[in-house]
Amino acid sequence: MIVSTSHCARVGQTIALLYAFSAIFYTTHHLLVSPLRACFSIMLNLSSTALPNPSVSTILNAIKRPNYLNTQTPASFWNSDMALLHQSSWFADIDTDLILSKAFSNSMHPSKIVPFFYRASGELDAEDITITTLITSNRFPVFARLVERYQGPISVAIHVNNNSSDYHALLDSIHALYTSTPNMARFVDVHLVMDSFDRQFNTWRNIARLFARTDFVMMLDIDFAICTDFRSAIRANNAIMDKLREGTSAFVIPAFEYVKPEGGSNQLDQLVFPTDKTSLLSAIKARKLDMFHASWEVGHNSTDYPRYYAAPPGEVYKVTRYQAAYEPYIVFKKEGPPWCDERFVGYGGNKAACLFEMYLSGISYYVLSDHFILHQNHLYEEKIRKDERKFNKKIYSDFKYETCLRYFKNYHDLGILNSTRGYNVQEECTKLKGFPQIAQQVFTFCLNGSISD
Ligand SMILES: *[C@@H]1O[C@H](CO)[C@@H](O)[C@H](O)[C@H]1NC(C)=O
Ligand SMILES: *[C@@H]1O[C@H](CO)[C@@H](O)[C@H](O)[C@H]1NC(C)=O
Ligand SMILES: *[C@@H]1O[C@H](CO)[C@@H](O)[C@H](O)[C@H]1NC(C)=O
Ligand SMILES: *[C@@H]1O[C@H](CO)[C@@H](O)[C@H](O)[C@H]1NC(C)=O
Ligand SMILES: *[C@@H]1O[C@H](CO)[C@@H](O)[C@H](O)[C@H]1NC(C)=O
Repeated sequence: MIVSTSHCARVGQTIALLYAFSAIFYTTHHLLVSPLRACFSIMLNLSSTALPNPSVSTILNAIKRPNYLNTQTPASFWNSDMALLHQSSWFADIDTDLILSKAFSNSMHPSKIVPFFYRASGELDAEDITITTLITSNRFPVFARLVERYQGPISVAIHVNNNSSDYHALLDSIHALYTSTPNMARFVDVHLVMDSFDRQFNTWRNIARLFARTDFVMMLDIDFAICTDFRSAIRANNAIMDKLREGTSAFVIPAFEYVKPEGGSNQLDQLVFPTDKTSLLSAIKARKLDMFHASWEVGHNSTDYPRYYAAPPGEVYKVTRYQAAYEPYIVFKKEGPPWCDERFVGYGGNKAACLFEMYLSGISYYVLSDHFILHQNHLYEEKIRKDERKFNKKIYSDFKYETCLRYFKNYHDLGILNSTRGYNVQEECTKLKGFPQIAQQVFTFCLNGSISD
């Protein structure tokens, strides 16, 4: 029997997706069972049980702060803590591959990460903003344009599929790319990911962020052109910098695209892209440009485009209508905010999951109303996208419940659920169908201390 290669590829793809699928269930189990132990089984039983409809305040009232928070910290705790501080050098003795395998233990394996395959030689300012992104070989030309345009630090993850005989050719083309302009060696750090798994976007995003060498990063998709100098604007604004340093705010650079991708050749030519808000607004008025992905409105509409259009120069406004599909491009603090969940493989939900967890953790989104980026149209691999979106939609739905329970439990135990920081968890999680009931059951039961296993 002859089986076509495309059929093989599809089978491989399906297996990969099934793997990701089982991984997420395994991990869901793992993450929740450990902290909540038997509480979890109660939660599972709940879906079929009709329950009264408690409000958030009922949940909060049901949750008493555990006593241990009020007891004095035993002295030995401090001793071991100090000991840890003094022992931090043992870390250097651990094999880098071992550390990386733990750091990326939710990703597909085997995989080889090569940090700083190329390392930029330019001077770095710790308070600069590094663009973190990922590229595949068909995006090399676009990447080269980004490097010329940004003139600032860039950390890029490049996937090398080593399950193909021509991966040496890919390494050669990476070398050609890196040596194509002096600005590469000046600004760009390249990190390689060598394995057989395509489209592990969140793993690649985390790699680019982990190895960024400045305090602040911008998570960008390579298909976007930078139109305005948000980097200088942010760095010159003390109020914004203070918020970035605190780590509980992220700044949205709104995204736009040309209305008719097929209507002319100009769209790929960054030279004709608007570079200030006035020209952007007139292109929008002329219906040449629109918000990014107007057909998938929820992806970006929390940015509140009408407000953006009307905003006076210099305005920075808060996103007040967040919803879970929101996936804007943001500048934020490298250290502190949650990382992108690596169990998402393939198209759909992956970036929204990053933004969702950041939001739940208490990060507020603010829109920089003088700035924007512009999508450079390209052809999508539509068939692959459609299949993967279907799987990831289900995975994202489970992810929201899982993440909500984790943060609810975490912030409750820290005693900050009823604070500004805990506001997003309360607001967002209670939108999930049945979540208040589930949470109330889990927490009342756990706190009564009657669990044994
Ligand atoms: C939460 O905060 C509100 C307002 O500050 C307060 O009225 C309420 O009693 C608090 N609830 C709990 C459970 O601490
Ligand atoms: C690809 O790289 C991984 C990680 O180093 C390795 O385990 C695997 O054997 C490699 N595959 C091929 C075909 O070389
Ligand atoms: C790796 O290569 C083998 C042999 O060409 C193929 O059967 C397999 O499907 C490939 N795996 C992936 C993940 O592409
Ligand atoms: C975004 O779009 C959705 C679906 O059309 C709509 O329900 C929601 O109100 C919109 N949100 C904003 C902030 O415009
Ligand atoms: C928890 O304990 C309280 C008082 O001790 C009791 O009224 C309540 O029914 C218990 N809840 C559960 C779920 O066991």
